[in-house]
Amino acid sequence: MKTRITELFGIEHPIIQGGMHYVGYAELASAVSNAGGLGILTALTQPTPEDLAKEIARCHEMTDKPFGVNLTFLPAFTAPPYPEYIDAIIDGGVKIVETAGRNPAEHLPRLQEAGVKIIHKCTSVRHSLKAQSIGCDAVSVDGFECGGHPGEDDIPNMILLPRAAEELSIPFVASGGLANGRSLVASLAMGADGINMGTRFIATQEAPVHENVKQTLVAATELDTRLIMRPIRNTERVLSNAAVEEILKIERAKAEAGETVGIDDVRHLVAGSQNWKVLQEGQMDAGAWSCGMVAGLIHDVPTCKELIDGIMAEAESLIRERLEGMLG
Ligand SMILES: Cc1cc2nc3c(=O)[nH]c(=O)nc-3n(C[C@H](O)[C@H](O)[C@H](O)COP(=O)(O)O)c2cc1C
Repeated sequence: MKTRITELFGIEHPIIQGGMHYVGYAELASAVSNAGGLGILTALTQPTPEDLAKEIARCHEMTDKPFGVNLTFLPAFTAPPYPEYIDAIIDGGVKIVETAGRNPAEHLPRLQEAGVKIIHKCTSVRHSLKAQSIGCDAVSVDGFECGGHPGEDDIPNMILLPRAAEELSIPFVASGGLANGRSLVASLAMGADGINMGTRFIATQEAPVHENVKQTLVAATELDTRLIMRPIRNTERVLSNAAVEEILKIERAKAEAGETVGIDDVRHLVAGSQNWKVLQEGQMDAGAWSCGMVAGLIHDVPTCKELIDGIMAEAESLIRERLEGMLG
């Protein structure tokens, strides 16, 4: 399948694995790229720019196919040394960066002078148009269904993708709630040039997370995610567990008392250290962890190659048999 995204990134299949904190290591990124998709390392999962340089080198040893790096721009008070992380990306010969979070404009010139292609992830048409206007090569349009941060507009992909198609001239991929061949064909029909998946890739053989996490995803349904941190406009979609129910209880109690919940009220349950305990140690109630509604479509733990080949085969048969067949 050839789309503007496969052409832009030089990949075989229009399937991207989005950056994921404490998941996006070389094992997963290289497996996705070796399977013909685009694997992405998560820069800030590496404690320092030097560690990112080592992770990039490790990924080059594991694949000779293109892979990318996710750079998430967090609120300024916790700003990591972004210029040094960018040095590691450029010096490591990485040619694709997925930006997310705040506007990446100030960092684009250096990356683009080094020949790096930028795909910016955003949750609204207006932010997609902004990304296009500052010179991003593509966008990843993340609907309300998505795992992680869906923004505050709450527009699901059934509306968001066709709206993006109406407005954008640069290529975009659909993101959020996608897992299989139906997801890919539907996304293409709604104007996207490919798909970006997060949660689905966690339940793969190569994802370097604890086995408990994969089995929890297989057991979960589409009813099991919750939105936390809404009152502080830092909404995150996570899988329900004891920590998440506690966060929601704190948020409700504050609201009932007429007080505003602050990050300090829930920090002990959303901190990176707790996230690590879930994803890497398999302590499934230790803290909040990002997870999409798509958990309801995850029934197995395939290799990345089995997953991607399966998506492409299902998509092809849907197009050739089901859709063409309907035309009589
Ligand atoms: C566990 C987890 C961690 C994530 N961490 C990040 C991150 O650090 N930076 C980022 O830009 N997106 C992050 N995301 C969002 C994904 O890249 C992707 O946009 C999202 O998962 C798509 O929705 P889906 O999970 O329904 O496929 C994360 C998602 C998950 C599930």
